[in-house]
Amino acid sequence: MPLDYSTLDLIGKAARLIKSSRYFIALTGAGVSVESGIRPFRGPGGLWTEFGEPPMDGYRSFEDNPRGYWENKLNPEGRSRFGDSLSEAKPNAGHLAFAELETMGFLKSLITQNIDDLHIEAGSNNVLEIHGNKLKLRCVRCNTRFPKEGFNLSTLPPKCPKCGGVVKDDIVMFGEPIPSDVLAACQAEAERSDCIIVVGTSAVVYPAASLPLIVNDRGGVVIEINPLESDLSSICDVVVRASSGEAMPALVEALKRLA
Ligand code: APR
Repeated sequence: MPLDYSTLDLIGKAARLIKSSRYFIALTGAGVSVESGIRPFRGPGGLWTEFGEPPMDGYRSFEDNPRGYWENKLNPEGRSRFGDSLSEAKPNAGHLAFAELETMGFLKSLITQNIDDLHIEAGSNNVLEIHGNKLKLRCVRCNTRFPKEGFNLSTLPPKCPKCGGVVKDDIVMFGEPIPSDVLAACQAEAERSDCIIVVGTSAVVYPAASLPLIVNDRGGVVIEINPLESDLSSICDVVVRASSGEAMPALVEALKRLA
């Protein structure tokens, strides 16, 4: 369904604010991948809405028994809650628009809560994956990341070839602290930014949800794209109630018209 005039007006307003900004960044969540066939976590059609949130002690059980964690990972009982959607998903028009905003020189960096690699597949380069990436492994001692493909799993738990620490999935588990390097980089981007767009997140998971607050507290502009209300909507300067796959390409067009 084409976007209505009032929504296009709001997208025009967002484009003018982005054009006059000095350091524009983005924060994205599960909503940007819904149009790629991946379910969100909360709200209508959410995984946690249907199955309940996983227990917060996931990481504790990894720490207590890393070998067991790996044995379970390599011989999982039952299918992942995501089914095949995660492996079959392709970037949608929203992901492609973010990549274009970077190429056009507007978007300085993109912080994503998504582990699906779709922003990178769409061509975005300056991406910070605050919850990790499904294609990578990470050493829990030195934070070095390794491609999952071809990593030596002959001994469990696998050890880091650099520091000998234990290696796990790069995906951040419930109860696991955000790796210090990516957290520091995300906070530094928020502290530099005077304009942030927040797309497809319920903004209830911290510390990711604190990043737009950092921009707001420093007098910066906060723009939201989400078909539904989020925990952040009340502090936003512009709220666009539309899907990412429709609104993001329209934002790119609006910026091109301002050029
Ligand atoms: N376009 C834009 N937004 C959408 C779309 C769409 N097509 N479809 C749904 N949304 C919005 C929903 O209204 C909701 O506000 O996306 C949001 C998704 O929220 P969540 O499911 O809570 O996802 P997210 O905010 O990314 O979750 C944060 O929680 O479970 C953990 O680690 C997981 O990274 C995840 C974190």
